[in-house]
Amino acid sequence: MSTDGSREPVGVIGTGYVGLVTAAGFAALGSEVYCVDIDEDKIRGLEEGRIPIWEPGLEELIAVHRERLHFSTDLAPALAHARVLFVAVGTPPTYSGDADLSAVHAVVDAMPASDRHALVMKSTVPVGTGESIERALAQQDKGFAYVSCPEFLKEGSAVQDFLEPDRVVIGEDGGWAGDAVEALYAPLGAPIVRTDVKSAEMVKLASNAFLATKISFINEIANVCEETGADVVEVARGMGLDDRIGPKFLQAGIGFGGSCFPKDVAALKQLAGNSGYHFQLLNSVIEVNELQKRRVIAKLQKHLGSLVGKEIALLGLAFKANTDDMREASSLVLSARLQGAGARVRAYDPVAEAEARKLISGVAFASSAAEAVAGADAIVLVTEWPEFRELDLAEVAAAMRGSLLVDGRNFLDPGAARAAGLVYEAIGRPSQSPSPVSAG
Ligand code: UGA
Repeated sequence: MSTDGSREPVGVIGTGYVGLVTAAGFAALGSEVYCVDIDEDKIRGLEEGRIPIWEPGLEELIAVHRERLHFSTDLAPALAHARVLFVAVGTPPTYSGDADLSAVHAVVDAMPASDRHALVMKSTVPVGTGESIERALAQQDKGFAYVSCPEFLKEGSAVQDFLEPDRVVIGEDGGWAGDAVEALYAPLGAPIVRTDVKSAEMVKLASNAFLATKISFINEIANVCEETGADVVEVARGMGLDDRIGPKFLQAGIGFGGSCFPKDVAALKQLAGNSGYHFQLLNSVIEVNELQKRRVIAKLQKHLGSLVGKEIALLGLAFKANTDDMREASSLVLSARLQGAGARVRAYDPVAEAEARKLISGVAFASSAAEAVAGADAIVLVTEWPEFRELDLAEVAAAMRGSLLVDGRNFLDPGAARAAGLVYEAIGRPSQSPSPVSAG
């Protein structure tokens, strides 16, 4: 990895997950990095070393390369020092399912005329966005080059994903900028896919949609396993050894969440619809995922009967482990449904509580797993935080009022849970009959 100081400086517009990780990553590779964000508090915080997101390794990477990272609310330093400007602003979904591109357009509009600069799109955008941006840049006589360089990092392992990517996709329609972006990523030694802008945009959407499809597929297999007595963990193990299938993204659970899969699957479906194509498969992927979040309720009712007045403890709230991100987390639907069914909900998450408080109401927050489970009629493991594997399950069983544990991530050892005296239910794994005492 070259860090000889001769690297091309870069600008990064937007300091969310993608922007900050990209900035820290390029700084680690030796570039001077000029970060820009319209959020003054965020920029002030970053200047003072406060990282606005919880992402393993990011704070450390930023601290180590702090002298190469520059933060500003003004575009001028980035434009003055860097010709390659990565765009990493949010593209949240709209009510129609289309992506909201207003932040992207604001960036384009803020650019001055220059034939020296390139905009490199990291934000996830619909296919055709690059074309319309290039048209807008040309109409405004701005002279910018344009590159699509989608990001594939996962929250929770974003730093590692930046430094060890499976591939780097560079879409451009000619000009100098594609080579400049390739040179920036070259030290990582990853396969580089050079292609046109539209295909690069589609690689991103199709990759996320495919992974989401894999999850909905294994979740449906899990549901059939429950009917037939097979164990989805064994099934996924057997399937995953086939090279053509692979073991990843075959963990059945309570459905996918996060800021990307739900949004990008909906955006691809919408994009297809807008062009007159009905993407049947993605409709099912979305529907299966919605139903999957609710299946936990039926598992609770199977053992507890009515949930009115029942104390339910949620272990974990974040959409997956190693992040504080609550966007589209399955816990949002679950906690609301439980309360709708009359249950009292308490929850514990080791890092996502602050984010959860912004989105969840009516839930009592506990400061430890032990506090959450004390007196509970049932526990639902929602997020696969490693610390939940360290729980003394006998102590958990003793502290509860009831004995039901629904493992929404197939994360715990069923044998150990049952040996501790818990009634253990998982997703797509052999279950226990309801006890006559607790049913009804
Ligand atoms: C996802 C993609 O994995 C990244 O490649 C992509 O860059 C990113 O979206 C994005 O577009 O920005 P992320 O949303 O951070 O990354 O998280 P994932 O690890 O992909 O998990 C997504 C959801 O699927 C989580 O709720 C997770 O719990 C769930 N999941 C994942 C399963 O239910 N089962 C699995 O086997 C894997």
